Amino acid sequence: TTPIIFDTDPGVDDAQAIAIALAHPDIELLGLTTTYGNVDIDTATHNALLLSELAGQTIPVAQGAAAPLVKPKHPAPAHIHGANGLGNIELPTVSGQADSRSAAQFIVDTVNARPGEVTLVAVGPLGNLAAALQLDPSIVERVKQVVIMGGSIREGGNVTPVAEANMFNDPHAASRALTAGWPLVMVGLDATHRCVLSPADMDTIAAGQGRLGDVLKGSYGFYRDFYQQALGIDGCCPHDSCALAWLMAPQLFTTARGHLTVATDGDAEGQTIFAPEGRPFLDARWSRTPLVDVCLDADGAAVVKWIVDTL
Ligand code: BDR
Ligand code: CA
Repeated sequence: TTPIIFDTDPGVDDAQAIAIALAHPDIELLGLTTTYGNVDIDTATHNALLLSELAGQTIPVAQGAAAPLVKPKHPAPAHIHGANGLGNIELPTVSGQADSRSAAQFIVDTVNARPGEVTLVAVGPLGNLAAALQLDPSIVERVKQVVIMGGSIREGGNVTPVAEANMFNDPHAASRALTAGWPLVMVGLDATHRCVLSPADMDTIAAGQGRLGDVLKGSYGFYRDFYQQALGIDGCCPHDSCALAWLMAPQLFTTARGHLTVATDGDAEGQTIFAPEGRPFLDARWSRTPLVDVCLDADGAAVVKWIVDTL
């Protein structure tokens, strides 16, 4: 099995991905770490606790970043995921409590307890990864790999013409996480925009998920309205589930190796910049950052089938 920590800002597509992490027989979910992003940090933690409870599993939930590292905090746009992060549907009460440790401490402890084994899957702004790196820089040597949902190479952005939301929401943290030197793959909009989860797919998923299915389906309805207005499609891009799909079924993606940075300010704030391995540039800085893998494309239908089959 594949032991993971899932770092998340739930969020409708985060919720779907959490359901996958809880359900997949070959994924060992060691913990959920939460970050502000789609919602404020308390709501993110609440939703993470709720989703694992609805799945009938007791998974540690450690609360993390409440704001970006450097840029001013801005309220999450409630029209995408709803003010409660789950499409404003009515939610059952939560009985569990968050772990006493911070997300960053939880990451450091968990990675150090199982050197070389733990994969970090991060599908929100990257403040918790940046904080964990600051707490113990040597985890770079002990993390198995880092899979990030975020960024965009050729696809353009979804917050600005060039910036994807998770990068835009904390570009300074993203810069630290992307250039830390650990084995890393970025699953960005170039892959996730190829995947559209249809209303029929959602019905199939909900039917197999009990009470959790009601929340997934209810929140999906709200997210679907946003996609209809923003992209004119009938269905939702399951962004965060794509990170797990890459982890468990990488053959469904086209991946390239190279150097990756993220712009931290100006009009390009949050833009990911990719320099393919071996391509010489006059300005040598592009070859100084560590090599990582970046998804450039995905077999969207196959990824969606993987999601539906898993759930
Ligand atoms: C990413 O931004 C968030 O809104 C989603 O949950 C996903 O992680 C997509 O750009
Ligand atoms: Ca997310």
